[in-house]
Order: sequence, then C-alpha cells, then structure tokens
Amino acid sequence: MKDLRETVRYMMTPGPVEVSPRTLQALSSPVVHHYSQGFIDFYDETTGMLKKVFQTKKDLIIMQGEAVLGLEASVANTIDPGDRVLVLDNGPYGAWFGIYVENHGGEVVRLKEEYTRALDPDKVKRVLEKEKNIKVLTLVHMDTPVGIVNPVEEICKTAKKHGVLTIVDSVAALGGMEINPDRWNIDICICGSQKCFSSPPALCPVSVSREAWSAMEKKKRPIKMSYLSMLDYRDTWIKKRVFPFTPFVSEIYAIHESATEILEEGLLNVFARHRKVADAVRDGVEAMGLKLWPESRSFASDTVTAVRVPEGIDDEKLREIMAREYGVLIAGEVPGLKGEIFRIGHMGYSARMENALVAVAALEKALLRLGFPVKEKKGVEKVLEHL
Ligand SMILES: Cc1ncc(COP(=O)(O)O)c(C=O)c1O
Repeated sequence: MKDLRETVRYMMTPGPVEVSPRTLQALSSPVVHHYSQGFIDFYDETTGMLKKVFQTKKDLIIMQGEAVLGLEASVANTIDPGDRVLVLDNGPYGAWFGIYVENHGGEVVRLKEEYTRALDPDKVKRVLEKEKNIKVLTLVHMDTPVGIVNPVEEICKTAKKHGVLTIVDSVAALGGMEINPDRWNIDICICGSQKCFSSPPALCPVSVSREAWSAMEKKKRPIKMSYLSMLDYRDTWIKKRVFPFTPFVSEIYAIHESATEILEEGLLNVFARHRKVADAVRDGVEAMGLKLWPESRSFASDTVTAVRVPEGIDDEKLREIMAREYGVLIAGEVPGLKGEIFRIGHMGYSARMENALVAVAALEKALLRLGFPVKEKKGVEKVLEHL
C-alpha cells in the first residue's frame, strides 16, 4: 500500500499519535472468528489489562467507535429529558459535554472557567450547594486543546457528597497520567485508543460504576438495542458472554498489544516518562522566549504542551514549515481560539526524548524562518539538559 505519511516522520499531535511498531505488527495478525474460544479468551484478557491501566476494579466495556462515542453515550445513557447536569467548562471538550446534554433533552447548568486555568474545586462545591437536583456532573481530566489538567479527584469527591453522578473524559490523559476511577469517585471514565495507548483511532474503553449502571436502568426509557447503549455491553457480553455485535477483532489485537507495552513498562514508569518529556518540551519552548498557554505549570498537561502563538506569527505557516521541512507534525486549530494556540503532543509512543528534541529543534528553525527572534539552539540546549 502507498505510504500516506508524505513528509511527516514525527507525529507530535495530541492524538492520534504514532502507533508503536509492536502494535502495528499486532494489527496485521490473521483475523479470527470472534466466537472462537481463542478470541473470547483474548478479549477477556484485553479487558483485564485495560482495567489495570485504568487502575479500576469496576466494570469496563470496550465501546466500538471513536472516543466521542463514549462521551455522548455517557450522557445519553444516564439522563432523562429535563434532568439537570452540571457541565464544567474550561476548555472546548468541557463545553461540548453541554451540547450532548442538550441533544438528549437535559438542562445544562454551566460552570465556566477561563480557558487558561484549571477548574476550581471550591467553585464547584459552591454551585453544588446552591443548585438543586443536579443529577450528573461532567468534566474533562485534561482538555487537550488548551493542555490543562483538572483536579478530578477533589471535584468528584465533592460531587459524591452531593449524590451526583460523575462523568470524566480522560481520553487524552489516561495511560499517560495518574487517574484512579475507584479512589477518585468517577462513575463513568472514558478513554480512547488513539491517545496514550498509541493504537489507531477505533475503540473507546469506558469504566462504569454500580451507581452508573443503576442510573442507566432507572432511566424512564433505558437505552437498549442502540449503538449508544452501554447497557447492551453489560447485558450481553458481561452477563451472557455474547457480543452485542461483531467486535473489531484487529483493533482488539492492537489495544491488547498497546496495553501490554504499558504494563510491561509499568504505570509509574510510564507516567514518569510523560512527565520527563513534558518538562523537557516546556523548558525548551520557554527557553526560546515562547509562553505556555496554561497560566501555571502546576496544571499543565504531561501529555500535550499548549503554547501561545507569538504576536505576528502565522501558526498555519509555522506548522506547515515544521511538517514540510523537518517532518514534524504538530497541532493547531483550536475551535474558538484559532491562531492563538499551537500544541505539541507527547503522549504514548510519541512521549520520547528524541521526539521532544526533534520537535523543539524544528520549532526553533521554523520560528526563525518566520522572523521570530529566537536564540538559536537555546530551546534545544534546554531539552538536552533533560536527557
Ligand atoms: C479531551 C478529549 N476528549 C475527546 C476527544 C475525542 O475527540 P476526537 O474525535 O478529536 O478524537 C479528544 C481528542 O482530541 C480529546 O482530546
């Protein structure tokens, strides 16, 4: 098949990320029938491994679709028309939960925060004390377009005290940064295969608590026999060992291999690697005279670095030069913040020092080309200090 990468050799986007060579190889394994005993055992093993990466003992389902399927399904399966949902909004993905809520007839109670800051648990507490009958709270663990990590543990603890169900989008953090659905009181925790797992975009693993299953059952009209249904996974696969529909066999091979790689390295080592690479990239971009988008490093993500586009620089041109001349693909195009942010992803297989070095070097060169007064090699030197 034709190689579609064109000039790109370093996919430093915040997802999809470069698929690891082992996972690529797993993808090419022969496709077996999904009801062969071998595959059923393999699927079970995959679920068990994903639970380890999630650090959960709750049920885990592998929804078949891009991560947004899990985001919409988490809302659709838990709310009835008229239910009130507290939507925590300090980034584009946080805001989009509000659209799912409205699409499914819920009432949005929105707590907005500056897109340069993490959510404030005290503000959440005050809203929960003031507002009555909030059924569900939604938040994003790490809002990728702005590169900000939220205090999920504290917020969900408060939500639980108020009997509120918690939905957390950890699509771009789980597998790269600490999260613990059980200890952190997360009822529905959503991930995606194409981020820290370094698998292709295809699967959406979701952990589901007993309280969440119960809310789904108690809905006036529970969602069943639907691609959005979470109950279908429980009632067929978990209870009866029957798949709700044909599983994506090859994608299960892929995520099994990705989870194997993560567990072989060890979760703590994986988190430490992401931190190390993130620190190097952050130091590198700041040494060039650029500003990070998050107001404080204390809530800057370890899986992506969001950077302010300097005045007078066309970020599209910047990204184009990086990709064409140096083979480094980074991301921009943040909805509502066009031309203000560019993002260097360092998640999963892309979270490697050599990638950090190449990305920072290419960024320096491209900025120089566009006339930004960067001190050449200063960023690179900073990254080298982290090796
Ligand atoms: C926080 C977050 N949630 C969900 C998604 C899934 O959306 P997409 O369709 O862009 O992969 C992403 C992807 O970037 C994300 O970063």
